[in-house]
Amino acid sequence: MSALLDSAERMSRTDLEALQLERLRATLRHAYENVAHYRSAFDRAGLKPEDCRSLADLARFPFTTKADLRDNYPFGMFAVPEDQVRRVHASSGTTGRPTVVGYTGRDLETWADVVARSIRAAGGRPGQKIHVAYGYGLFTGGLGAHYGAERLGCTVIPASGGMTARQVQLIQDFRPDIIMVTPSYMLTILDEFERQGVDPRTTSLKAGIFGAEPWTEEMRREIEERFAIDAVDIYGLSEVMGPGVAQECVETKDGLHIWEDHFYPEVVDPFTGEVLPDGERGELVFTSLTKEAMPVIRYRTRDLTRLLPGTARVFRRMEKVTGRSDDLVILRGVNLFPTQIEEIVLRSPGVSPHFQLRLTREGRLDVLTVRAEARPGATPGERAAAAVSVAAAVKDGIGVSVGVEILDPETLERSVGKFRRIVDERG
Ligand code: DLL
Repeated sequence: MSALLDSAERMSRTDLEALQLERLRATLRHAYENVAHYRSAFDRAGLKPEDCRSLADLARFPFTTKADLRDNYPFGMFAVPEDQVRRVHASSGTTGRPTVVGYTGRDLETWADVVARSIRAAGGRPGQKIHVAYGYGLFTGGLGAHYGAERLGCTVIPASGGMTARQVQLIQDFRPDIIMVTPSYMLTILDEFERQGVDPRTTSLKAGIFGAEPWTEEMRREIEERFAIDAVDIYGLSEVMGPGVAQECVETKDGLHIWEDHFYPEVVDPFTGEVLPDGERGELVFTSLTKEAMPVIRYRTRDLTRLLPGTARVFRRMEKVTGRSDDLVILRGVNLFPTQIEEIVLRSPGVSPHFQLRLTREGRLDVLTVRAEARPGATPGERAAAAVSVAAAVKDGIGVSVGVEILDPETLERSVGKFRRIVDERG
């Protein structure tokens, strides 16, 4: 394996940290000199880029938030003249203006390199075929995966999202080795295999690289068993690059190695902003180390995780992201993430992995209803038992009462990309 690693993956921790500091200082300078937002934010904090003399000094610099990006819509955060920007992407966001991000030619090279490295960590090798079912377009998933797969020397099947019957046909006819798709859309594809009467365990697929939304160990088991593949996690966000900021290695499946030679992670207390030691849970914050078009300094991801030492690689790992602060539901004082419900639903016989959470208001109380589809063929008795056991597991495990509705199979909306787990009808 180690012969396959690139030079950064073979660095010692000491050399890596020296490289990070050099790149960090250059990035702070680049941002300060070329982006009005960073210049005024650093000035307000009384800091100059040179004040960063160690990696720990980064903690003195101000955070950047999604609101800062929105306030500078569309191109105000760019640090190079517009004619040097080769591509833009945008994340839709749930409200208001999208967040726009830009890449120079060199940024696109870096991105392809980190995605190629990610696919290799997932077990991908040159010459293999990769089916990309992440959406192509302003979303970074499709094109990000695409150029990384080409960079590794793979054959790309650019299926994009949607047209599920055709996805199944392409997988059968073109015989890809790897699929890159959101985990929720993989479940939609799974149903389509079964609808067509094709055993999903018999496909050519050996591995799936799943990300763009939170998913659990229970979901990993479900997908691995039903497709007979390895399922590994890929993480990223448009503001920092796109997919390929961190990747789980197939040989360990123990969280995601952050490609720390390009993206510097910190975990902070979400309320106070204080940097937390490795191992403690909090909000993930990223500083780009090599980006030209849109450097980001201490970008608050709102994703909750913790940093762990490297295992299969020298880079630190982040624990699988089980939630983002935006998805937190506070129900009668109890904090709950949709992934906690996913774990319970997937462990319950009689219900399928398709579920949604509906939030309503009764008087002054928020009410959460878990709406899950019955497994095809489940008897009325099994369905009734499932409703009781899901409600009891939520009460025991999370400590709050929820309603449970067991629906007929194929009644809930299906994912074709990032899935909206929570339907908020509180008005
Ligand atoms: O979702 C980039 C991506 C595409 C990553 C394809 C992986 C695969 P955005 O649309 O900007 O970018 O959304 C970023 O999605 O802050 C997380 O909340 C969530 N997210 C992404 N990957 C994971 C993951 C892409 N593996 C936001 N686990 C992030 C949990 C994830 N959440």
